[in-house]
Amino acid sequence: MPINAPKSSPELNQAPSVQMSGVSMRYGEGPEVLRDVDLTLAQGEFAFLTGPSGAGKSSLLKLMYLREQASRGLISLFGQDSAQLTETSRPLVRRRIGVVLQDFDLIDHLSVFENVALPLRIHGVKRSSYASDAVEILRWVGLGERLDALPPTLSGGEKQRVAIARAVIAKPDLLIADEPTGNVDPAMGARLIRLFEEMNRIGTTVLIATHDLDLIPSGARRLEIARGELSS
Ligand SMILES: Nc1ncnc2c1ncn2[C@@H]1O[C@H](COP(=O)(O)OP(=O)(O)O)[C@@H](O)[C@H]1O
Ligand SMILES: [Mg+2]
Repeated sequence: MPINAPKSSPELNQAPSVQMSGVSMRYGEGPEVLRDVDLTLAQGEFAFLTGPSGAGKSSLLKLMYLREQASRGLISLFGQDSAQLTETSRPLVRRRIGVVLQDFDLIDHLSVFENVALPLRIHGVKRSSYASDAVEILRWVGLGERLDALPPTLSGGEKQRVAIARAVIAKPDLLIADEPTGNVDPAMGARLIRLFEEMNRIGTTVLIATHDLDLIPSGARRLEIARGELSS
């Protein structure tokens, strides 16, 4: 694993990664798809979000990575009220969050390697300092032979693994994954969960939405959502 030293200063670890209180959400003028959600993810927690299709899992995650806004309630990320974020502070918060989306969101004309390296390049990291990390993480997800491939030539499961490698390469403080094992076989699914566990071991808070209960290690925290209401 290219991941080793724990990061973040201790004082940053004090605030929960995510805190939601009385949160409701609707799309436009539509009905509420989330109702009165209270949720705390402490720094360093590992949790699964489960529930049937349409229950509101993806919507809840969208609030956490600042893709959508709540219609009511309070959302804090790393101790900062998300409603108070400015044009300057918002990208800084967003940068601390790694996201794996269901539709992968890869850049088709960049190679697998370049897609994974992109978050670090954007942060101004030199190629010489990220190249071996990118290769190592791609090997870990079984794509060591596909570094130069372009996304359109990959299978769905391969694209998903590129998206996961890209989400973890910058060692985010919070990793949010929406059905990250939806396109891979059970053995690869288990391997990807181990990767998330490894991230968690070095301090990353992890939340994984899945409807696949077999994926959830026994003893793991499980949040359940049904018809927009969360119970845990
Ligand atoms: N972009 C959107 N616009 C309007 N309604 C949406 C949108 N995305 C999701 N919804 C609705 O919100 C509800 C919750 O969906 P979603 O969060 O995607 O659930 P899940 O991820 O658990 O399957 C569903 O009723 C869905 O139809
Ligand atoms: Mg979903």
